[in-house]
Amino acid sequence: MAKVISEDIGEYYHHYPRVATIVTAQAKGRQNAMAVAWHTSISFAPPLYGIAVSPKRFTYQLIVDSKEFGVNFLPFEQAELVASVGGSSGGEIDKFRQFDITQNKPVKTAVPILKDAYAAYECRLIDDRGYGDHRLLVGEIVAAHSLEEAFTPEGILDLAKVSPILYLGGERYVTASRETIKYLDRKVYGKD
Ligand SMILES: Cc1cc2nc3c(=O)[nH]c(=O)nc-3n(C[C@H](O)[C@H](O)[C@H](O)COP(=O)(O)O)c2cc1C
Repeated sequence: MAKVISEDIGEYYHHYPRVATIVTAQAKGRQNAMAVAWHTSISFAPPLYGIAVSPKRFTYQLIVDSKEFGVNFLPFEQAELVASVGGSSGGEIDKFRQFDITQNKPVKTAVPILKDAYAAYECRLIDDRGYGDHRLLVGEIVAAHSLEEAFTPEGILDLAKVSPILYLGGERYVTASRETIKYLDRKVYGKD
């Protein structure tokens, strides 16, 4: 099969799927939620997390104003909520009311934590830098919420209990199943 090589990159999705998250923020009495697929861990010590957010998003201004954001990881049953908050603007509607989103209390910040999340990070903004048409917002994780039964004793997501939301790009979502797990010990495989 022939490989296609392109130098006109445009919008690129070759590296998908990616875990879809819901980023939350609040400021000046307004709270909001948006879908974010561009996110990454950056450091263990201190625990840093990065999200790439367009400055056009209503959420961006709330994060700049409050210097805080939340990253919420939801089960596949909640994929519709990702599409809902990713397809609407907080400048026009109150997404928490419109989509009937229930919350848990944050502990270190004032960011909304979604009750249905199997994990969530409360982050304090430490850097906001522009790269092309997005801003890379880096936050220190000051509290991590997690559903105890969703994780194995080693802290790995238990796919028997929770199916994550993987975003394929466009309007397509998929999940990961336990049957496809491969255990590959790096100490064994790293040997020549
Ligand atoms: C699955 C999915 C992933 C998305 N990922 C991002 C992202 O990583 N960064 C971003 O700026 N926008 C992303 N978006 C777009 C925003 O979620 C969307 O523009 C949203 O309406 C912004 O809401 P707000 O204006 O209320 O902040 C994504 C949308 C979807 C559906």
